[in-house]
Amino acid sequence: MGHRKDLGIVRVGVLTGGGDVPGLNPAIRAVVMRLLDYGHEPVGLPRGWLGLMEGLTEPLTLESVEEIVSRGGTILGSSRTNPLKRDEDLDKCLDNIKALGLDAVVAIGGEDTLSVASNLHKLGVNTVGVPKTMDNDLSETDYTLGFDTAVNIAMDAVDRLRDTAKSHDRAIVLEVMGRHAGWVALYTGVAGGADWILIPEVAPDLDEMCDHLVRARNRGKRYAIVVASEGIDLPQAEEESVSVDAFGHVILRERGVGDFLAREIESRAGSETRSVVLGHIQRGGPPTMFDRVLGTMLGLKAADMVNAGEFGKMSAIQNNRIVAVDMERAISELKTVPIELYEEAKTLFK
Ligand code: F6P
Repeated sequence: MGHRKDLGIVRVGVLTGGGDVPGLNPAIRAVVMRLLDYGHEPVGLPRGWLGLMEGLTEPLTLESVEEIVSRGGTILGSSRTNPLKRDEDLDKCLDNIKALGLDAVVAIGGEDTLSVASNLHKLGVNTVGVPKTMDNDLSETDYTLGFDTAVNIAMDAVDRLRDTAKSHDRAIVLEVMGRHAGWVALYTGVAGGADWILIPEVAPDLDEMCDHLVRARNRGKRYAIVVASEGIDLPQAEEESVSVDAFGHVILRERGVGDFLAREIESRAGSETRSVVLGHIQRGGPPTMFDRVLGTMLGLKAADMVNAGEFGKMSAIQNNRIVAVDMERAISELKTVPIELYEEAKTLFK
């Protein structure tokens, strides 16, 4: 696909795919502002890959982005549409790239969205990725957009739950999102001072957890907070009924991790227990300072990469520096929590 930098103007489709997070709008804003600086022509592709499949566009002007840095969600809309599932859909995308005169596409998303971008790149499309997912599970980047905001929201929930747990001498289980990576649960539990944390990377030992909760109660701590990731293994066989999304991911909230754990804690540790599923609250509201600045830096870099013709790559943050990394490598393996980090956090369960 020809790069028209030599002609002065590059028409760049911008899309956001997968679960929305606070931080997407700052990234869109930065991509657009920098592309405009270069004299390029950004154009919005609404609702992720669905917009491209349907050949839809929407204007992305300075006016449409200049005030969105503090807004959650995404002004472009999002979807979990997977155009790689059916050849006809992929063909539609390739045809529309030509029909819309797109020289490049900036895809802001997680593993699923970027796997499409990476495959399109192999088919000759000029794609650049920006890492976004509250799960923080993309490789090749220390942080992804939306993680910091999600953890701050969940940490605030722990602070609030502690007040009510303490008043009633209860245990409360907070179920957080994060799919197959425990970053959100681990950071929330550490930052909130939880009594126990359960992450998908470590098989849950409910006896160990409940023994610990009983010991803590016996030494005078009459309440407990447990932070559990939605993706932990459950020793129950109720999983046949859960549904999957377009990328084949199990809809984890249907498994009822929080409720299950609350019942176990009540029966094994004897504490009155409640459970709270934080769900999509973690993905709403204004982005934190970190997600605003990170979105901005990653967005500026993505536009620079388009201008420089660095395709098949993703902007990323590594050791506090914004860099371009190989997109294929970023999606090849999930970045999960190292067991040592979890073991270290266990020191704080007292
Ligand atoms: O991948 C981001 C995420 O928020 C996961 O943590 C969660 O399992 C999933 O999306 C929820 O998906 P949906 O918004 O489609 O319900």
